[in-house]
Amino acid sequence: MTVSIAPIDPARPDFAALASDIDLRQPLSAEDRARIEAGMDRFAVMVFRGQDITNEQQLAFTRQFGELEPAYFVPGDNVQAGRIPGEINDVSNLDRDNKVLPRDDRQRLFQLGNLLWHSDSSYKAVPAKYSMLLARAIPDRGGDTEFADMRAAWDTLDPETQALVRDLVCEHSRLYSRGALGFTFTAEEERKFAPVRQRLVRRHPVTGRLSLYLSSHGGAIVGWPLPEARALLRELTEHATQRERVYAHKWRRFDLVVWDNRVTMHRGKRYPADQPRDIRRTTTTDAAPTLQQAA
Ligand SMILES: [Fe+2]
Repeated sequence: MTVSIAPIDPARPDFAALASDIDLRQPLSAEDRARIEAGMDRFAVMVFRGQDITNEQQLAFTRQFGELEPAYFVPGDNVQAGRIPGEINDVSNLDRDNKVLPRDDRQRLFQLGNLLWHSDSSYKAVPAKYSMLLARAIPDRGGDTEFADMRAAWDTLDPETQALVRDLVCEHSRLYSRGALGFTFTAEEERKFAPVRQRLVRRHPVTGRLSLYLSSHGGAIVGWPLPEARALLRELTEHATQRERVYAHKWRRFDLVVWDNRVTMHRGKRYPADQPRDIRRTTTTDAAPTLQQAA
């Protein structure tokens, strides 16, 4: 049996697909691997339902699609350290004893940055390619993840704005994304989170399609006055996240959702703070800094 891939919403034939007839507990065949990669190039978001897989199986699947990105730096005492393997990003609200983090926990507050539209690791010079998020426990309501198609965002920009933004370079840092929520940083964090530069318009290496590379981590445009830069980034983000270009994923337990950070933005939605949510992310890195890639 080979994997079947079909759009989730027939009205949006090139964004967000459901993959079925595949069991990720089994080693991936070369044919399925190729089909999934081609599916990612076309759809940018793929949902695999009912994948009750181990951490090791999630890592093995991820490694089929590129080099694993190291898990992110967490500020302060890492109250989650050791809960799951260090190669997997803990996107849960649980401490190392699997207890729900208190509402004022600093790590929890830092992670609330995930509620803002972003592209994973855009604050790194070589950012993320694919993210793979597995839900092991979900709250009884809320907590959807929304995805915006940044290729469609580019395609629907007026030509004058396309010309304006085509060659711009932005500065990305978690100082901007977390700072936007009022999070404050230590001097060490300010050094660690020094901004990196990213192109604002990217070209997909396989399909050749252009896309906007926006993220809440983006907080400045090189050579632009800051208020003008922020106003433009906000305008572009509003344009990119209009409902007709967004797929909202309602999680079921053991959903694995894979997305291409090069051509999408995403955000988590709020959920009750006292309910456990155990969601684990593996990530592959992109091939090179975006500044070395043609637009
Ligand atoms: Fe994310």
